[in-house]
Amino acid sequence: MEEISFKIIVADSSHKKYSEQITDEMENSAKARGTGIAKRSPAYIETKMDEGKAVIALTSDGVWAGFCYIEAWGHGKFVANSGLIVAPQFRKYGLARKIKQEIFKLSRKKYPDSKIFGLTTGAAVMKINSELGYIPVSYSDLTDDQEFWKGCQSCVNYEILMSKNRQNCLCTAMLYDPHAKKNHTEELALRDDFKKELKLFDRWVRLKKFVMLKLTKSKDTVKSIFL
Ligand SMILES: CC(C)(COP(=O)(O)OP(=O)(O)OC[C@H]1O[C@@H](n2cnc3c(N)ncnc32)[C@H](O)[C@@H]1OP(=O)(O)O)[C@@H](O)C(=O)NCCC(=O)NCCS
Repeated sequence: MEEISFKIIVADSSHKKYSEQITDEMENSAKARGTGIAKRSPAYIETKMDEGKAVIALTSDGVWAGFCYIEAWGHGKFVANSGLIVAPQFRKYGLARKIKQEIFKLSRKKYPDSKIFGLTTGAAVMKINSELGYIPVSYSDLTDDQEFWKGCQSCVNYEILMSKNRQNCLCTAMLYDPHAKKNHTEELALRDDFKKELKLFDRWVRLKKFVMLKLTKSKDTVKSIFL
């Protein structure tokens, strides 16, 4: 693969010109995958740039290549690194991993005591999260901030989430806890299992989709497998 060099930096107001391209790509990618997304406006993305709560990737020629931003919930008790997107022509260059590393660093700096969480259906993101120290958790371990969950309303799977009393959906919840005991052997073993194999994530995502979608069709026959 051709070598392309990217700048991965904390976004600021000079990057607002990319906001529409970013939100268009978020929407197009979600449509292409047939998955849900918490829809964001260009104005929202621009606020994140103004606040220094986003990371942007650009080529040396200033072509937009990727983006991710920070959201704080529950009065800063929780932080999410949301909206990860890499422009289609720059995928599979390791860019998502680098962007996630940078936004994780920025989150730890700005919110050193916050738990960092993510909700995703993407195997790539699950793998990267595990490398950063996230572990899979249940939805009840995430923020109960209503504003966060409102973001799911624009997702195609919202009905599934609500039918499960907001306790499960197609997305897998992952959490980094800065105060977790470092020698908790079970958690470390689990994290290692998840780090090993991308295929494991792929299988997990497929299984979850199968079970969840089946659940909505025949709620009475298959009950609460994940609860
Ligand atoms: C998901 C996405 C961010 C990945 O970006 P990327 O720059 O291509 O990812 P990377 O090159 O950093 O890959 C990281 C790892 O994930 C794997 N990966 C990348 N895309 C993958 C995919 N679609 N399915 C499975 N694994 C994938 C890579 O092989 C790599 O693993 P490896 O190092 O073990 O080989 C990008 O495809 C994208 O923007 N998709 C649309 C938006 C989206 O799904 N965002 C995530 C929302 S939670």
